Amino acid sequence: MVAHRGASAARPEHTLAAYELALEEGADGVECDVRLTRDGHLVCVHDRTVDRTSSGTGLVSELTLAELKELDFGDGSPAGVLTLSELIGLVLDWRSRPTKLFIETKHPVRYGSLVENKVLAELQRFGIATPASAAHSRAVVMSFAATAVWRIRRAAPLLPTVLLGESSRYLGGSAATTVGATAVGPSVKTLREHPELVDKAAAAGRATYCWTVDEPDDIALCADLGVSWVATNHPGRAKAVLANR
Ligand code: G3P
Ligand code: CA
Repeated sequence: MVAHRGASAARPEHTLAAYELALEEGADGVECDVRLTRDGHLVCVHDRTVDRTSSGTGLVSELTLAELKELDFGDGSPAGVLTLSELIGLVLDWRSRPTKLFIETKHPVRYGSLVENKVLAELQRFGIATPASAAHSRAVVMSFAATAVWRIRRAAPLLPTVLLGESSRYLGGSAATTVGATAVGPSVKTLREHPELVDKAAAAGRATYCWTVDEPDDIALCADLGVSWVATNHPGRAKAVLANR
C-alpha cells in the first residue's frame, strides 16, 4: 500500500510529518508529485500554485527554492516545502523495511524532458536509478503524460514506470506498450467500472497501480482483484483493512 502525498488525510500533504506518519503506519511506499522551481530544484508540490497548501501565493515555477522554503506548508505546526532530494533521503533512511518512492512528474510539456532528466539525476545521485530488477527498485516514476513515461524508459530502462490515466480504453489499449510502461495506473472509479483492467495488464506482463483508494470496500476490492499498488490518503486505515482479511 502506497501513502498518497504521505499520510495526507491526517497530516498536511507532501510534508515531512505526512511522510513520517505514513512510514510509521506501515506504508510499503509513498507517493509524491514533483515540480520545478524557478531556479531548477525539484520540490514535492501537487498544484501549479502554492495557494492551496501553503501560507504563500503564486506559481511554484516562478518561486525560487529559497522563497518556497520561507513558506509554511503546515496546518498548525510549521512545515517547510520538501525537496525530492529530502524525500528520497527519508525513504532510503527508513531502516525498518525497504519502502518505495512513487514519483509523479508534473508539467511534462512546458519543460520538455527537463523534469524527467532531473528526477533521473537525483535517483542516480542516490544510487537507485539502475535497480537489479523492477521488483527490487526503490523508485517508481509515474505520469499521466505518455511522453514522460517514454522518456524515463528510454533513459533508464530498468526503472519501473506507471502510465496513469482515467480512461479504461486508453489504459487497456496500446499506449502502455508503446511507451514501455511496466504498470498502468487507473483511478479507483475507473477500476470499479472496469475491473478487467487488472487481468488485462497482468496478461501483458504489467502491474496495476490504483489511486486514490480511501474507502474500505475499495481497498478490499483492489486486494481481491490483485492490484499491485493501492495508493491511499489513509495508510493506517488501509493497513487495518488488509490485515483483517
Ligand atoms: O497517484 C496518482 C495520483 O496522485 C494522480 O492524481 O492529481 O493526485 O496527482 P493526482
Ligand atoms: Ca500524484
